[in-house]
Amino acid sequence: MVDVAVLISGSGTNLQALIDACADDDFPARIVLVISNNPGVKGLERAEKAGIPTKVLNHRGFDSREEYDDQIHEALKESGAKLICLAGFMRILDARFVNRWRNRMLNIHPSLLPSFKGLHTHERAIEAGVRYTGCTVHFVNPELDDGPIITQAVVAINPDEGADTLAARVLEKEHIIYPQALRLVAEGRVRVVGNKVTIRDAEYENLASVNPKP
Ligand code: GAR
Repeated sequence: MVDVAVLISGSGTNLQALIDACADDDFPARIVLVISNNPGVKGLERAEKAGIPTKVLNHRGFDSREEYDDQIHEALKESGAKLICLAGFMRILDARFVNRWRNRMLNIHPSLLPSFKGLHTHERAIEAGVRYTGCTVHFVNPELDDGPIITQAVVAINPDEGADTLAARVLEKEHIIYPQALRLVAEGRVRVVGNKVTIRDAEYENLASVNPKP
């Protein structure tokens, strides 16, 4: 059983997906701490409801990013967490912190990385006219939304679709792939070589999709 800490900033639907996955006796990880940089968010309620210890570390009270990240590191160490899942944690972490947790910190991002890093991914994907978008779970590098990719899910963009409905459809997939990626890592099946991840005994989709249909 691998102890995991989840860092959030808001509603925490991905946190909920991880909580639900961990409720399964077969799941190889458990959440020992949830940290939010924002007080009063829904994600904290979700954690409390599941009986998981929570901590609010409000970044606004700190003089520097490094000082703030050191506090997070201390809280994580105290919790005994061996892995971190960033689940809608909307703060950039400094390189020193990221390097301490290299290949032990996962993030979920609502695009097919390396496309559309940063914010407003769905608006930008629609604006760019791409036919597919999706979501990515990856190990965190010091660069923003960058690092070895563990899993991705693809979502086709419907013509005339708005960012809100697209976001909802991508979020559904996020809730599937985040627990799946955490399981793979917690089972020790994931190996990082350079910027690439290999997964022991994984099955890969071998399907070419075309959108619009030929
Ligand atoms: C999710 O869509 C997640 O992919 C995104 O924030 C949302 C959080 O929702 N994260 C990022 O954009 C990180 N770059 P949630 O709080 O309901 O899980």
